[in-house]
Amino acid sequence: MSLPKLQSFADSQLLAAHAAQTIQQIAEQAIAEKGQFSIVLAGGTTPLQCYELLAKMPLEWTKWHVFYGDERCLPVQDQQRNHQMVMQTGLLNNIKNHFVIPAELAADEAAQQYAQVIASYLPFDLVLLGMGQDGHTASLFPNHPWAQNPDGVIAVANSPKPPPERISLNKSTLQNSKHLIALISGNDKKQAVMQWANGNALPIAQVMNTAHSSIMIEKALLP
Ligand code: 6PG
Repeated sequence: MSLPKLQSFADSQLLAAHAAQTIQQIAEQAIAEKGQFSIVLAGGTTPLQCYELLAKMPLEWTKWHVFYGDERCLPVQDQQRNHQMVMQTGLLNNIKNHFVIPAELAADEAAQQYAQVIASYLPFDLVLLGMGQDGHTASLFPNHPWAQNPDGVIAVANSPKPPPERISLNKSTLQNSKHLIALISGNDKKQAVMQWANGNALPIAQVMNTAHSSIMIEKALLP
């Protein structure tokens, strides 16, 4: 496994601007082809700048269908929920077709329900991913049981990153998309990028190991 096609940027602002432009292009193309655009948003802090830029762009929001790659099992109003963090960016202001993972329910039930929600949208037009400093992506962590059965939507227990319970699209579901883009910035990611480049089967490396994936990364993180 080696790094897929990548584009590097001097800083996180340039990265966010390029990501927003690319998402705009993919959205316009999908809408031109079939009248709608499905996007799976990444959680965490890295993509928030890009979401803020997108929110200010004149896009065809009514044709967007927005999903999540993972969610943290917390009360629905908790500001640490991924969908709450996205809401703060303004990206969801004009979006009617917004599909939150019901992670306030029992984890297994939430996973099952979300699998039904996404079923008719597969393959997604675009899946965005982030990467944690241990090489996790969505809520797929290194040395966790997800890899034994990589399909569907799963309940994740004992996550090393809080909160310990999460819901995540699993590998094959994240890969079931026309475009898969990982946004990677922050100095704490350097070691994981090095491990990935050296062929370590980190979760991010496994999910991105497809022909349609690409990385947008801060230059300083490259080996
Ligand atoms: C989450 C995420 C997770 C995230 C990475 C990167 O719920 O925490 O979905 O996979 O994308 O941990 O997070 P940062 O961008 O905050 O470093």
